Amino acid sequence: MVPPRSMFAPASHALAEDSPGAPAQASQELQAGLLAPSPHIDPKYLYDRLGSSLFTAITLLPEYYPTRCEAEILQEHAADIAAHAGKVEALIDVGAGDCVKAERLFASLQPRRYVPIDISAGYLQTAVQRLQHAHPDIEIMAVCQDVHDTLDLPHAIPERNRLFFYPGSSIGNLDPGRAARMLARIRAACPGGGLLVGVDRVKPRSILEPAYDDALRLTAAFNLNLLRHVNQLLGSDFQVDDWSHVAHYDEANSRIQMFLQAQRDVLVRWPAGQRRFAAGQRIHTENSYKYTPEKFRDLLAQAGFRDIQHWSDERGWFSVFSARA
Ligand code: AVI
Repeated sequence: MVPPRSMFAPASHALAEDSPGAPAQASQELQAGLLAPSPHIDPKYLYDRLGSSLFTAITLLPEYYPTRCEAEILQEHAADIAAHAGKVEALIDVGAGDCVKAERLFASLQPRRYVPIDISAGYLQTAVQRLQHAHPDIEIMAVCQDVHDTLDLPHAIPERNRLFFYPGSSIGNLDPGRAARMLARIRAACPGGGLLVGVDRVKPRSILEPAYDDALRLTAAFNLNLLRHVNQLLGSDFQVDDWSHVAHYDEANSRIQMFLQAQRDVLVRWPAGQRRFAAGQRIHTENSYKYTPEKFRDLLAQAGFRDIQHWSDERGWFSVFSARA
């Protein structure tokens, strides 16, 4: 019987299942977003347990290419990536989800420790249990945290030879200013270490829009599920079938924008407030920025990274960057 080596980081790192932040803070943030002149909901609320599962399903869709492109790059260039990364004491997985992407790197990177960080505690817990059985020699320490707000790692993780892994182009869900700050935070947390980050590239609308508005309507379900999660957190009475999913490529800013659009006039109430939405009015729910390799290299350099390399898939749709802190 293999002794359990995985643990959830205690105290400030632990959060209630599926609750990104303290409930009062979440309510305040949600209310402010809903009452804003241009209403919006932070995309972190897409990831309750069902939302995380829907996202995993999205990655299997024929239209949603990023996950497959990234896997191809990580597999094709595993040896070069490992050589550039050097010795890995701790592999720190930012937005780990089901941990499958990082697991594929274990053979080439040989990390002593694996630190998956994710906002959805329930989803992470299930993934970590499976992983620890499959890799009993790796010490696994899961952290429940919204990495886009803070990067607060347990002291038990040595500072030397940390490799941050930030896959899936999740960096694209931040606007470029916030992305630069996030990269700077990562660099500060891995002196002498490095970062491996996946980045989706600028490409024609005809490829991008179906990736975010698929024929099976899984992305629509992912977006609409946000309303159910908000109802749970805020006590609001959104009716899912009053809303529809919209995904649009904003070429000027190289970003996909997702919205929920009111199908008819609706009144949404919650304990401390209410808002009327006219038919056609939209709530912004996510940006997904696309980069050219040159632009992303600049962003990394701006954050203080050096010795920057990148690899791409055959079609040049996606890039994986490795950079030293
Ligand atoms: C997690 N993130 C990188 C995804 C993306 O492509 O922006 C989230 C997503 N939204 C809709 N489909 C996938």
